[in-house]
Amino acid sequence: MKKILVINGPNINMLGKREPEIYGTETYVDLLEFINKAALEAGLTVCCFQSNYEGAIVDEIQNACGQYDGIIINPAAYTHTSIAIPDALKAVGLPAVEVHLSDLSKREAYRQTSYTTEACRKTIMGKGFEGYKMALQFLQTLF
Ligand code: DQA
Repeated sequence: MKKILVINGPNINMLGKREPEIYGTETYVDLLEFINKAALEAGLTVCCFQSNYEGAIVDEIQNACGQYDGIIINPAAYTHTSIAIPDALKAVGLPAVEVHLSDLSKREAYRQTSYTTEACRKTIMGKGFEGYKMALQFLQTLF
């Protein structure tokens, strides 16, 4: 079975409490349950990682090399600031999908730039938890 690493960036652990009008009332634990169920249905093995630290996310991506077959990443606020994260994705060369819970195209001007997009095969936004399922299904089509 192919193995997928799911990475969530800063404040995704605050789901449920955090701006529920944007991110909904379900928690990070609910998200983990959703992803595990979706992976089972897609016939994939998943491991989920969350960090509020850019360097820890870079380390996790580097360590995925040879351990995983694909990456799903919601870099959260680092989407708009980090060059190290897409550099790491390009360095490992695993197929990656960028996911955002909210629709960035309808939000603030400072959220309109994603440095992550060019290091990913696909970007899914504005679909809530469902976006992670769509990303798993997309990766499955590549194998
Ligand atoms: C987010 C969107 C980002 O702009 C924001 O900083 C986040 C979450 C999303 O999933 O919609 O933390 O990546």
